Amino acid sequence: MKPKIWFNGELVEWEDCRVHITAYSLHYGAAAFEGIRFYETGRGVALFRLKDHIKRLVKSAKILGMNVGYSENQLINASKLAVKSSGMKSGYLRPIAFYGESELYVHAKDSKVNLAMIILPWSKYLQNASVRIKSSSYIRLHPNSAPMGVKISGYYINSLLAILEAREKGYDEALLLDYNGNVAEGPAENFFIAKNNVVITPPLGNILPGVTRDSIIKIAGDNSIEVLEKNFKLEEAKKADEAFFTGTGAEITPIIRIDDARIGNGEIGHLTKKLTSLFRDVVSGKNKKYDKWLEHI
Ligand SMILES: Cc1ncc(COP(=O)(O)O)c(C=O)c1O
Repeated sequence: MKPKIWFNGELVEWEDCRVHITAYSLHYGAAAFEGIRFYETGRGVALFRLKDHIKRLVKSAKILGMNVGYSENQLINASKLAVKSSGMKSGYLRPIAFYGESELYVHAKDSKVNLAMIILPWSKYLQNASVRIKSSSYIRLHPNSAPMGVKISGYYINSLLAILEAREKGYDEALLLDYNGNVAEGPAENFFIAKNNVVITPPLGNILPGVTRDSIIKIAGDNSIEVLEKNFKLEEAKKADEAFFTGTGAEITPIIRIDDARIGNGEIGHLTKKLTSLFRDVVSGKNKKYDKWLEHI
């Protein structure tokens, strides 16, 4: 049986959770959403960095002029309730705030804000253990076109176009540059390289401030792995010793090829392996130092 969906304050059967065809957000892409994983730990099921995700959800909603109608604490409790009611030990939680039934005026003023928490049994997001990626002919949205740093449905047209292009050319995933020609991020992932034992990732500004990105930067720092947040070009990425994506879906996904360039020796690099193993320990509660990131249900 499919998990129940928390919808506007109640748990609703999967099949009964419906929205009207005139839902504003369906027509204009104005929904704020999150992706949060939950994992089995030694002390039961825990959502990873739930508070940080909820904060970003509220921030994204605000950008769209939405008042979600629940406090952060209420959203945290709703998230836990949805996970608990699913009975699942691990998986993915998708909170989404969207404008419902409307008269389709672009100003959205006549629409009610709806909030849903959906549970999905995601295991891997990218199907291969390591991926080959294609630099995209599409660039990330210009920060003056739409504020970056938030997770808004409409932005994902940019991601979808990049994915379609990459897949058509036989690659697993895309890599997008920003409007300055610097490497930005994947369609649903942040991007890292490693060169001479230093881990490098684009700075905040033209990318989503990923919760996983932040976790990896902190975990690396705590384990004496040097991390630099700086801009770099595609050519530098292609000459890296290692490359990987991070994200709630992708977790840490090694990259072994960018366009026709092999990364390192074409195998998963030692820093990528080390960070993956450290990250696994953190999300599964094996490293007590990061207990604060686990929100037990
Ligand atoms: C465009 C984009 N960048 C980066 C990420 C990674 O963010 P996080 O680690 O918070 O999931 C995501 C996924 O949410 C994303 O959609």
